[in-house]
Amino acid sequence: MNVRPRTQFFGEFRIPGDKSVTHRAILFNGIARGEAVVTDALLGADCLSSAACMRALGAQVEVDGTSIRVRGAERLRAADCDCGNSGTTMRLLMGLAAGQGVQVRLTGDASLSRRPMERVAAPLRLLGADIETADGHAPVTVRPAPLFGRAVDTKVASAQVKSALILAALGAEGETVIREPLLSRDHTERMLAAMGADIRAEGCTVTVGRSALRAVDVAVPADISGAAYFMALGALCGETLCRSVGVNPTRTGILRVFDQMGVRYALGHERTVCGEPVADIRVRKSPLRAVHLGRAIMPSLIDELPVIAVLCACAEGESVIEGAEELRVKESDRIRTTAAMLAAIGGDVEEKPDGFIIRGKKSLRGGNFDACADHRIAMSGAVALAASERGGDIAGAECVDISFPNFFDLLNS
Ligand code: S3P
Repeated sequence: MNVRPRTQFFGEFRIPGDKSVTHRAILFNGIARGEAVVTDALLGADCLSSAACMRALGAQVEVDGTSIRVRGAERLRAADCDCGNSGTTMRLLMGLAAGQGVQVRLTGDASLSRRPMERVAAPLRLLGADIETADGHAPVTVRPAPLFGRAVDTKVASAQVKSALILAALGAEGETVIREPLLSRDHTERMLAAMGADIRAEGCTVTVGRSALRAVDVAVPADISGAAYFMALGALCGETLCRSVGVNPTRTGILRVFDQMGVRYALGHERTVCGEPVADIRVRKSPLRAVHLGRAIMPSLIDELPVIAVLCACAEGESVIEGAEELRVKESDRIRTTAAMLAAIGGDVEEKPDGFIIRGKKSLRGGNFDACADHRIAMSGAVALAASERGGDIAGAECVDISFPNFFDLLNS
């Protein structure tokens, strides 16, 4: 895929639905009583993996345009589930299957099969779950076993780990108290509360009792992780407006980064839709300052770090990003792949075990790079090429289908 340089980039963009919210709307309604309609859903490959897995487990899931109709199974049936590239599908299904007492075997593609699964399996076993991983990785087998609520401290601030524990706790006897080191995204807590679950969240602690769920319709906000690419293009090249973007405070670390970098932006039409805060986000071209980002902010912008690194590469001064070692276990090793992408197009970046040092330049030269089968590297690099002097080619750019199938149509529109 060729990306040409754009000295000016202006426009209003309809960003696809939030990936995290779409996964949850499919998975949770798949075990709820009744029927739900999920509108403005993301139909990227990852969410389609969740839909296919819930179908295999016995739920009815019908996709029609950007709407998904889900009818929960009264009782899930044992199944083999192919989670594709989707970590969220595999990890949440581990907890869901344990909580529902159903046998599943979970497999994934080459990238997903390299990602750590014991971070979910080990705390689930503390509740009594019978889970087997292949040396810490997929394939993962979950067998029915009685679960008992207890207090569990998670080692990493991960919404996937937290959500798996919450889903298991729905089927455990007694109360489960989950504490995480830093607050990760809380879409699970919000949606399950709306579905009638016995769940309370306070700071980094979630308390869950055994619960049955009732189906809820979900209007999915636009994904701030997808909007981030067009917000960055506004900051670098012109002015962009993204409508109805989810601005849940556990996801808006990028706005705090904009504050520190001097990016001019404004939120408009702020409202709450299906329990999630939503707003229109307008971003204008701005002179950028370097930033220093540490561990505390990481959970709120973890998926945006590659595109934030692109902004740092175009900012005045030296930016330091640390405490971001979670990037090493995403769809690719994103510390390595982000650094390689930036270096290939003329950026000055130094890789650290837990982040980057990036020395900003007035402009990036442009050049060719490989997306390394990682959608966020492809899209972050596309932003960098659009803002560069010469543009360039991205090898393997089709992986954007994972979370943003029409990304290049919007970029070239
Ligand atoms: C997600 C949580 C994040 C994020 C991923 C989606 C979710 O992972 O990187 O893209 O939907 O729960 P971790 O919670 O493991 O950091």
